Amino acid sequence: MINAPRGTQDLLPGVTEQWQYVEEKFKELCRTYNYHEVRTPIFEHTELFQRGVGDTTDIVQKEMYTFKDRGERSLTLRPEGTASVVRAFVQHKLFGQASQPTKLYYAGPMFRYERPQQGRMRQFVQFGVEALGSADPAIDAEVISLAMYVYQQLGLRSLKLVINSLGDNQSRTDHRNALIAHFAPHREELCQDCQLRLDQNPLRVLDCKKDKDHPAMATAPSILDYLNEESHSYFEQVKTYLDQMGIAYVVDKNLVRGLDYYNHTAFEIMSDAEGFGAITTLSGGGRYNGLVEDLGGPETPGIGFALSVERLLMALEAENINLPIDTSLDCYFIAMGEKAEQKAIELVYQMRKAGIQVDKDYQAKKFKAQFKAADRLKAKYVLVLGDNELAENIINVKNMENGEQESVEIDQVIPYIEQLLQRGQG
Ligand code: HAM
Repeated sequence: MINAPRGTQDLLPGVTEQWQYVEEKFKELCRTYNYHEVRTPIFEHTELFQRGVGDTTDIVQKEMYTFKDRGERSLTLRPEGTASVVRAFVQHKLFGQASQPTKLYYAGPMFRYERPQQGRMRQFVQFGVEALGSADPAIDAEVISLAMYVYQQLGLRSLKLVINSLGDNQSRTDHRNALIAHFAPHREELCQDCQLRLDQNPLRVLDCKKDKDHPAMATAPSILDYLNEESHSYFEQVKTYLDQMGIAYVVDKNLVRGLDYYNHTAFEIMSDAEGFGAITTLSGGGRYNGLVEDLGGPETPGIGFALSVERLLMALEAENINLPIDTSLDCYFIAMGEKAEQKAIELVYQMRKAGIQVDKDYQAKKFKAQFKAADRLKAKYVLVLGDNELAENIINVKNMENGEQESVEIDQVIPYIEQLLQRGQG
């Protein structure tokens, strides 16, 4: 037997409906916020992520699915969506369109070679948005509010929004120098990775899982102390807008995010729910002014976020939220007798063309067993056609909820069912 690869999963009927539901909800809310869907390839040139996500990040150094194609090109299964969306924005010159900022959303699988555990997969699905072309702190607040709203609309209550500012280039350089000076005396006590990070990208040290309890971590210089006037005031405005929308948050000066493109606003949303498990981050995002230029486009600010569906569904489960998914079937057609069976084929086809959900038996089951099947499929109505009924030109329609039965003329059955279904919905 061949199983699905480690860190991947099959979604079977019964579960897929939940995925469809949350995807529909996400898309609907994106439309409410006037974001439009973009679909980019599953694989890209490796260089895109090296340049976009950053050469020194764990994602690029340890987690990418990189391979050579038959033409010897180095390609990588996308580990995240932002680099691809920005590439598409540059490639198709979306910056030239009249309506700015360009507000995009996406939903699809991402791939990271991580150690799998609950909520951490090697193939996982992200929903995300990117707003390109505005450096207004109000759009930072918009993106954060959308992220929160998606969860709230699905019924989640135990949410914690954590925000920070990483400042602009100057603030970051000052902070970087302070970090190097702070950690240098402890260099030998840090893990191998962090010793390298200290030279290449000291901010990453703050994100280290191995060294997180080292005493120097708690006393490390905070970016918030190095924000220049402009960065400070930008962050204050983002917070003011969140306050105005009544969105609660906590500022965590150690929130640095695991990707290199960020500056100014960075945020994560966590689940506070009891029993949620070890990984509590549901989604993350932030501002990435400079990324569009790094990928060959004109100077364009940007901000976005991404959530994973795996963790979203875990959070729903932890809060005992059942999504309102309708798994019923409109009708089940039971035909008894050879002629009735033939007529059933035609009628079922016509009903489907009228948009009525209907199924029938294909295993020559007995009458009782067919009724059971209708029950299992949660059919609202069962239509019974025997050779006797056929001779009389009628069909018996049984309402499975209240047990009422009605005889309906065969050529009236479609409008009759349509009317019943409408009444049911109303
Ligand atoms: P990220 O923090 O790397 O950011 O990922 C965003 C979210 O994806 C995480 O908060 C988590 O819910 C989910 N995630 C990441 N790795 C896994 C995994 N192995 N299994 C399951 N879920 C996972 C980004 O990817 C940025 N592109 C977000 C962004 C968009 N920033 C600006 N725009």
